[in-house]
Amino acid sequence: MIFFLDTGIVEEIRMASEWGIVDGVTTNPSLIAKTGRTQKDVIKEITSIIDGPISAEVISMDLKGMLREAEELSTIHPNVVIKLPLTEPGIAACKILSRQGIKTNVTLCFSPVQALLAAKAQATYVSPFIGRLDDVSQDGVGLIREMRTIFDNYGFETQILAASIRHPMHVRDAALAGADVGTMPFSVLKALYKHPLTDKGLAQFLEDFNRSKK
Ligand code: E4P
Repeated sequence: MIFFLDTGIVEEIRMASEWGIVDGVTTNPSLIAKTGRTQKDVIKEITSIIDGPISAEVISMDLKGMLREAEELSTIHPNVVIKLPLTEPGIAACKILSRQGIKTNVTLCFSPVQALLAAKAQATYVSPFIGRLDDVSQDGVGLIREMRTIFDNYGFETQILAASIRHPMHVRDAALAGADVGTMPFSVLKALYKHPLTDKGLAQFLEDFNRSKK
């Protein structure tokens, strides 16, 4: 499973990159707004830290605006992936950009038929928001399972990017359901390392080792 960090905070990205398990980064307009910096500055700095796909989202609602923004964002770095909303213009933009060899991430996906549209438009990634589905009493991980079956039925190459991950169980369940990628906040990535028996076992090993030296 490929791991992306879902943040615009470069300090978090820098720290996590040292752990050697971060393959890329996703951002969205809300995450960029939290940094108080411009999208261009943030994305540029992220590309200097992580050598992998970095998603940057367009904010235009119309096809022309989306394509103009995609062109600008693509000049930042070859690793920039254009994040597009799952709307009629977003899917149309995805098809055009895919034909031009530009990588895309179709975002705000909440149903299997929406995912099918992204796959038909040859999106590189499609992002089901599993946490937001769970928030409204729908089955976020169930959506990933259905997408996996549909994509495998037809041999679609679009990668399933599990998004809106809120806790380690989401990572486990998305991996079991066959998501290709999981994007998660820094806090969730950090929590994946934690198990009380690891801490307890380590403390015991160190105690036994130190006692044997006396
Ligand atoms: C993914 O690309 C999105 O940026 C993100 O996962 C949304 O997560 P949220 O529902 O926690 O805001």
